[in-house]
Amino acid sequence: MALKITVIGTGYLGATHAAAMAELGFEVLGLDVVPEKIEMLQRGEVPMYEPGLEELLRRHVDGIEGASGRLRFTTSYEEAGAFGDVHFVCVNTPQKHGEYACDMSYVESAFDALAPHLTRPALVVGKSTVPVGSAARLAERLAAASPAGAQVELAWNPEFLREGFAVKDTLHPDRIVVGVAGERGEELLREVYATPIAEGSPFIVMDYPTSELVKTSANSFLATKISFINAMAEVCEAADGDVVKLAEAIGHDERIGKKFLRAGIGFGGGCLPKDLRAFMARAGELGADQALTFLREIDSINMRRRGHMVELTRDAVGGGFLGKRVAVLGATFKPDSDDVRDSPALNVAGQIHLQGGQVTVYDPKGMENARRVFPTLAYADTALDAVRGADVVLHLTEWREFRELDPAALGDVVAERRILDGRNALDPQLWRKAGWTYRALGRPKA
Ligand code: UGA
Repeated sequence: MALKITVIGTGYLGATHAAAMAELGFEVLGLDVVPEKIEMLQRGEVPMYEPGLEELLRRHVDGIEGASGRLRFTTSYEEAGAFGDVHFVCVNTPQKHGEYACDMSYVESAFDALAPHLTRPALVVGKSTVPVGSAARLAERLAAASPAGAQVELAWNPEFLREGFAVKDTLHPDRIVVGVAGERGEELLREVYATPIAEGSPFIVMDYPTSELVKTSANSFLATKISFINAMAEVCEAADGDVVKLAEAIGHDERIGKKFLRAGIGFGGGCLPKDLRAFMARAGELGADQALTFLREIDSINMRRRGHMVELTRDAVGGGFLGKRVAVLGATFKPDSDDVRDSPALNVAGQIHLQGGQVTVYDPKGMENARRVFPTLAYADTALDAVRGADVVLHLTEWREFRELDPAALGDVVAERRILDGRNALDPQLWRKAGWTYRALGRPKA
C-alpha cells in the first residue's frame, strides 16, 4: 500500500512540500495550527505568492473540481497521527528575539503535539532548519512520548528550496540529504523520493548531526559568496573598478562559478541572515566559535550594504533628505516572492524615510506585506506613479517588470532623471541614453 504522508506546518516549505507529495502520488494530510491558513488551503488558495504553487495545489486538493483529491488539510494532531506513515515537520525556526540563536519553540511544540498520537510504527522527518544536535535530542523526546515507543523513528531531511522556485526545487531537488539513525528511515525516504531519485537526484545518507550541518553550511556558503562580491564592490568603488565585469571574469573559472556573484544591497529574507546567526550561536555553545567568526564579517559586510545605499542616495539628492522625494522600486527581499522578511529594499526605504525623505514604494507582489511591516511609508500602485515627481529613483529588487520599464516614459514624470541601481540589474546604457544619471554599487560613475 502506498505510504500516507502528513506535512506539519504549511508555510512556504510545508505548503509546497504537501502539494509536491500529492503530485508524486501520495495521499497527503497537511496540518497547521492556524485555522485561517487551513481554510484557505482547503479552498485551493495559497497564503503567499509563489509561482506555480497555487496551480499545483489546485490539482490535488480534495473537493476542488477536477483535482486528484489526494491532498487534504486539518488542524487536528489526532487526525494526523492516525493518518500518517511518514510525518514531515516543516514549521519555521525564526531568530530569537534579541539573540542570535534560533527559536526552536515551534519545532518542539509540533513534536510534543504529534508524539502522543503515534500509536503505530511511523517515521517522523524533520525538515526545519535547526541547530546541530537538535535531531538527536528530539529523537529521544519522540521515543519517550509516543505510545508506539521505539517503533517511531526520526530522520532529518533538510530542504534547499529557494523562494520563487519552490515548486521546481521540491519536485526536482538537486540533492536529497537524509540524516538517519537506522535503516528503516532510509528505506522509507527512498520510497517517498523514488520519483526524483529515478530522475537522477543524488540521495545522500548520513548521520543526524551531519545532515543538520549540511543545511546551515550550504546557506553560510551562499551568504559568503554574496558578501565576498559585495566586499569586492566596496574595493571597486574605491579604486574606480567595475564589480560587474569583475564578477563576470572570475565567474568563468569553474571552481568559482558565476552564480551568487551579483553585487548589490545584499542578502535578506527569512533564511540566510538568521541561519548565519544561529550557526554562530550554536558553534559558540559547542566551543567551536572560532571556526565561524568569519561569518560575523559576512553578516556585517551584508548589513553595511544597506547603509551604503542610503549614503549614495543622500549624496545623489545633494547631501540631505529633507524635502526630497525618493521613489523605491522593490520591497521584497528578492523577485518572484511577496516575502519582505529582513528585506534589504524595505530596510533602505525605511532608513531614508526615518531620515526625513519622502519615500514612495512600489513592488509587483510585496505591497500588502510591506504595508503591514512599514505602514508609514507611502505606497503607489504602479512604478510610474511611484516615480512621479521623484528627485531620485532607487532600484532595490530586481523584478523583471523593472528591467522592462521604459526610461523615456519614466523620465517624463520624474523631477530629476536620476537612478541608483542597488541590484546591478538594469542596463546602464539604456538609461543613460534616455538622459538619466545612472549609478550602481561597485561600478564607475559614468
Ligand atoms: C535560500 C537558499 O538559497 C536556499 O537554498 C535555502 O533552501 C533557503 O534559503 C532556506 O534556507 O530555506 P532564499 O531565502 O529563497 O533561499 O533566497 P536566495 O535565492 O538564496 O537569495 C537570498 C538573498 O540573497 C536575496 O535577498 C537575494 O537578493 C540575495 N542575492 C542572491 C544577492 O544579493 N546576490 C546574489 O548573487 C544572489
